Amino acid sequence: MKVPETQRDTALDTTVMAVTRLRLTDFRSYDSFRFDGDSRPVVLTGPNGAGKTNLLEAVSYLAPGRGLRGARLSDIDRRYGKGGWAVAATVQTQEGSVDIGTGRDAGNTRRTVRISNNPAQSQAALAEFVSVVWLTPQMDRLFTDGASARRRFLDRLVYGFDPSHASRVNAYDHAMRERLRLLKAGRRDSAWLSALENAMVEHGVAVAAARLSLCEHLSEISVAADGPFPRARIAAAGVLEDDLRKGPALAAEDRLRAVLAGNRGLDAESGRTTEGAHRSDLAVAHIGKDMPAELCSTGEQKALLIAIVLAHARLLARHNGVIPLLLLDEVAAHLDVERRHALFADILEQGAQAWLTGADATLFDELSPNDAAFYRVQDASMTPLLK
Ligand SMILES: Nc1ncnc2c1ncn2[C@@H]1O[C@H](COP(=O)(O)OP(=O)(O)OP(=O)(O)O)[C@@H](O)[C@H]1O
Ligand SMILES: [Mg+2]
Repeated sequence: MKVPETQRDTALDTTVMAVTRLRLTDFRSYDSFRFDGDSRPVVLTGPNGAGKTNLLEAVSYLAPGRGLRGARLSDIDRRYGKGGWAVAATVQTQEGSVDIGTGRDAGNTRRTVRISNNPAQSQAALAEFVSVVWLTPQMDRLFTDGASARRRFLDRLVYGFDPSHASRVNAYDHAMRERLRLLKAGRRDSAWLSALENAMVEHGVAVAAARLSLCEHLSEISVAADGPFPRARIAAAGVLEDDLRKGPALAAEDRLRAVLAGNRGLDAESGRTTEGAHRSDLAVAHIGKDMPAELCSTGEQKALLIAIVLAHARLLARHNGVIPLLLLDEVAAHLDVERRHALFADILEQGAQAWLTGADATLFDELSPNDAAFYRVQDASMTPLLK
């Protein structure tokens, strides 16, 4: 596929985030797996059940969170394996090549992380090094399902800009759970509750502000985009966001603090936290059709998601000089030829290391052997595919 050299964003001072080495141990269908590559896109084709998505999932654990399937850590243990699993990778980052190890030891309920061979305090540290965004077939319902998946998607987009976002979201959730636990237990220790509410206010308003700012920037890029992917209006929605749009952050903090204190009885009774950063949502509209995303067709919704992911990569390159890893599971199969080629062209133009999967290798005919590294995946092993 020809991409004019002048169009390549990578000519600027940007780093292409890329996995150049990947080792898996007892990770789902893989007992032991090795991949060594460069920063080009990786195309994985092979039959159903071959292990394509498992590889993308393994890469997704290089970022904080529960991976692209949102799986329970113990479900990842290879069946009939020794128990526990491990992912080790070398990632090309802005800090140079960084070795990352993550996994679950048998008997351990937590995921441990090692960065350059040093244990990290929490997975949130991964956000300092790796930016990765994914699209999976399960996300086809992102706009119609509940807000929590949209929030997680949005938060992952924020990680790339603000690595402390992951730990702020965690700190907010932790304080919220603790407050609710106290309230449900009927403990009205006012000083303790106030301390937890203060933590919710401090982290919650920062989290909402980061979501708001990212959406504004993304929207700007997406609104100005041309090409076959729809232009999208992207906004962070919620009471906190409204407050932040209307006035200073301090006022939003004061209001949330008062609301939390006032809602103690209500929250104790209902067993849920009525207001806060956990209620935010991602609101997307298809500009060309003047239609909220949830009312668009399945294909249009997919195209909107791709437009957001591509806009995000551009934004990250522009602001932070990093082109994120893109994990695009079965995305090509759902696009018509024009959009499929436009997606490939955009990935090559940006220079991103995209991991693309599909059952059918002909979907990727447009890409030349120089454009990407091609592999056939079968029975949990991966062999180079000669084109
Ligand atoms: N914990 C596990 N231990 C062993 N095998 C597992 C585990 N979890 C999932 N698998 C198996 O891994 C295999 C490969 O799954 P994967 O989702 O990667 O396939 P795929 O190549 O993406 O297929 P498709 O084209 O259908 O999406 C499946 O047969 C699945 O049952
Ligand atoms: Mg799959």
